[in-house]
Amino acid sequence: MSRKVLRTRLCDLLDIEYPIILAGMGGAANAELAAAVSEAGGLGIIGAVNLSPDELDAEITRCKRLTSKPFGVDTIAPTNMVDTATIEELRNYIPDEAVDYVSRLANDLKIPVPEGTRFGKEGGTGWAAGMTPKQIEVVYDHKIPVFAAALGSPAFMAPEAHSRGMKVIGLVGNTRQARAEAEAGVDIIVAQGHEAGGHTGYVATMPLVPMVVDAVDPTPVVAAGGIADGRGLVAALALGACGVWCGTAFLCTVEAGILPEAKERLVKATEKDTRVTRVFTGKTCRLLSTELIEKWEKEGPVLPFPLPIVLCTSLQDYMTEARMVDNYFIPTGQVCGAVKEIKTARQVVEEMVEQAVRILEEGLFSRVKLSE
Ligand SMILES: Cc1cc2nc3c(=O)[nH]c(=O)nc-3n(C[C@H](O)[C@H](O)[C@H](O)COP(=O)(O)O)c2cc1C
Repeated sequence: MSRKVLRTRLCDLLDIEYPIILAGMGGAANAELAAAVSEAGGLGIIGAVNLSPDELDAEITRCKRLTSKPFGVDTIAPTNMVDTATIEELRNYIPDEAVDYVSRLANDLKIPVPEGTRFGKEGGTGWAAGMTPKQIEVVYDHKIPVFAAALGSPAFMAPEAHSRGMKVIGLVGNTRQARAEAEAGVDIIVAQGHEAGGHTGYVATMPLVPMVVDAVDPTPVVAAGGIADGRGLVAALALGACGVWCGTAFLCTVEAGILPEAKERLVKATEKDTRVTRVFTGKTCRLLSTELIEKWEKEGPVLPFPLPIVLCTSLQDYMTEARMVDNYFIPTGQVCGAVKEIKTARQVVEEMVEQAVRILEEGLFSRVKLSE
C-alpha cells in the first residue's frame, strides 16, 4: 500500500511528513521515542526537563544515531526560583514537617524505604542552578532545529534561535498567554487544553484551540490535550490548528522511557482515572490518580513549585527501585482511557494518519448532507 499523504503548513515549517508532534515529556520522551516518531514521519521531541546538560548531550547523540530526520528538545524556560536556586537551597526550603509527612505516607502505603530516609533532603532530582541556559547551549551546539518550552516562555531565546535557523515552540493554556508568546516572536503556539497530561490550565481543548487560532492569526497553532487518534487530528484541523502535539498517545509505546509496569497500569486506566493536583510539582498537573495522591490531597502539605518535585522524585525513586507502580506519579491525560494496548510509536503515527485520511476522504461526507 502506498504511503498516505497528509500535509499541512506545519509540515513545511518543520520539514516533516505528517503534522504530528511528540509532546516533550520529561522522563518519558527519550531518544528512542523521539527518533521513532521522527522516523515515522512526525516530529520527535526529547523531553529534557530532568536531564543535566551532559545527559542531554548524550541523549541527543543517541537520537542522532537512531534517526537522520529532524527532532526537537523540550525543557522548561527559566523562571526565578528554578533558575537561580541550587539543589541544596531547594532542599533547605523543604520544611521538616513535609519530610516527616512523606515518611509517614511511605510507611502507610508500604513503600519500602531505608530506615531514616529524609525525603527531599537527598536523592531524587538532579536539578542544578542555571541548568536551562546550559541545556540550551547543548541544543545550539547540536544544531537542533526545534526548541519547545511549556513552563515559562521560550520567547527570550527567539532572536538567537532564529539567527541559527531554529524554530521555537511555546505551550499556552489561554489566549492572553498565546498573544504574548506570538508577539514576542515564538514561531509555533501549542494550545494545550485542560484534559492534557502533565501541567495543565483550566480551559478545555475544544474551546481553547479556535480562540487561540483567532488570537494569534497568522501564527501557526498546534492543538494539544486529549488527542490520540485520527479523529482527534481531524478535529484539531477543523478547529483551525495545523497539527497536533500528543503526549498520552505515546506514553504507552514500546519506546517510551517509563517502567513497563507503569505502561501496563496505564492501558487499564479509564478516562475517569486521572486527576489534577498540585501535590507533585506545586503547579496544577494532571496525573493518574492513586491512593497516595488522594491521601496527600486530604492531609498533606502543598509546597510551592518546584519544591514538591524535589520531595516527590526522591519517593518515586524508591517506588522505581521496588517496581511498585500502584502509587507511582504518572502524568497522563484523560485520553489514557482510549489507549488500550502497547504499540510502537510508528503504529501510533501511522494509525492516526490512516484514520484521519479515511475520515477526510469519505467519513465526514458519508455522515453529513451538504445539499438536498
Ligand atoms: C508523562 C508526561 C510528561 C510530561 N512532561 C512534560 C514536560 O516535561 N514538558 C512539557 O512541555 N510538557 C510535558 N507534558 C505535557 C505534554 O507536553 C503535552 O502538552 C500533553 O501530554 C498533551 O496532552 P495529552 O497528554 O492529552 O496528549 C507531559 C505530559 C505527560 C503525559
